[in-house]
Amino acid sequence: MPPETSRRRFHLTVIYGLGAVITGALAIPAALYLLLPPRLRQKDEWIDAGDVSKMDLKTPVEVVFRKNRLDGWKLTSEKKTAWVVQQPSNTVVAFGPQCTHLGCAYHFEDDTKQFFCPCHNSVFSLDGRVVSGPAQRPLDRYETRVQNQRLLLGALKESNGTSA
Ligand code: FES
Repeated sequence: MPPETSRRRFHLTVIYGLGAVITGALAIPAALYLLLPPRLRQKDEWIDAGDVSKMDLKTPVEVVFRKNRLDGWKLTSEKKTAWVVQQPSNTVVAFGPQCTHLGCAYHFEDDTKQFFCPCHNSVFSLDGRVVSGPAQRPLDRYETRVQNQRLLLGALKESNGTSA
């Protein structure tokens, strides 16, 4: 075999080989994305919102925590808040941070011991019930669990119109 033919064959082999490597590098991630099912969302997702022994829950405390969300391959971290308060029955309740009228942020008023939404003046009691509208529903609540003095928050459950 003449040396020129051998060199040409070598160059063709290198070119085709590089083409195969580049194609594989592009195709394998795309195939994995298309063929593998998305990671199943964990249903039992509890977020650590802090040490309850360090919270004075006689009056509502606004707790800030981060919630990670996996969307396909993209992991995002969202800042969330909850109003946490101990009820007379000693249970710890965590309310969602948005007014059930149109979703404004409400706050706790120390002098009246009630939650007040400044957007349209809805008022909620310490147990989340509507004191005065226009809000029709009690405050939404996170599922809560206390484990080893840590407050764990689960899903935010939408309240219905009848119960707090
Ligand atoms: S959004 Fe709160 S009263 Fe309207």
